[in-house]
Amino acid sequence: MRIRRGRPGDLPTVLALERACFPPEVAFPAETVALILAEATALVAEGGSIVGFVAGFARGGWGKVLTLEVLPEGRGRGVGRRLMVALEEELASQGAKAALLEVSAENERAVALYAGLGYGKAGLLRGYYGPGRDALLMTRRLKPPDGGSGSFSPPEGRRSGRAGPSSKPKNISTNRAI
Ligand SMILES: CC(C)(COP(=O)(O)OP(=O)(O)OC[C@H]1O[C@@H](n2cnc3c(N)ncnc32)[C@H](O)[C@@H]1OP(=O)(O)O)[C@@H](O)C(=O)NCCC(=O)NCCS
Repeated sequence: MRIRRGRPGDLPTVLALERACFPPEVAFPAETVALILAEATALVAEGGSIVGFVAGFARGGWGKVLTLEVLPEGRGRGVGRRLMVALEEELASQGAKAALLEVSAENERAVALYAGLGYGKAGLLRGYYGPGRDALLMTRRLKPPDGGSGSFSPPEGRRSGRAGPSSKPKNISTNRAI
């Protein structure tokens, strides 16, 4: 399996993956996936065909994870973890000193994956995905791109929590259960 950058031509395959991984009310529409492939940092895991997808962007010293998804039949083999590590390296190389993401509080598998990577719970976003559907905000410091230990101070002098990027790529909605 190899990880490579996603490209616009991956749209049909990534859309199919999106639909295999998320219920219709949560799956990103085609326009959003196309925008992510064109404007965000998008990586695919390929083993013959595409089995996994991760995307995010770096802004203001923060890296934001937009999505992570692995085909059901490809899960439990480290693909999700490898995609996340690769994305974090990309975001760090673009200046991100820390990463943040929202994940459904009910998504135990993903929460375990993120916790295993070093993400800590920075907040509970009540009703983030609708009535009674909460999100956890999770953050972690990123290793500097040179691999050194480096000192970290939260971007813009703020602490973690809601201190995320003040803007995101235009028209990309990130408000879904990741
Ligand atoms: C969440 C998801 C991306 C994990 O992908 P994956 O390739 O199966 O994950 P990995 O094999 O790399 O596992 C990494 C960690 O996830 C956790 N994990 C994986 N499978 C798990 C399971 N069945 N139960 C509990 N935790 C599990 C573990 O912490 C695991 O670490 P370990 O191998 O050291 O125990 C995948 O289940 C998925 O696509 N789910 C649907 C979409 C989704 O919920 N995405 C999450 C954010 S958008």
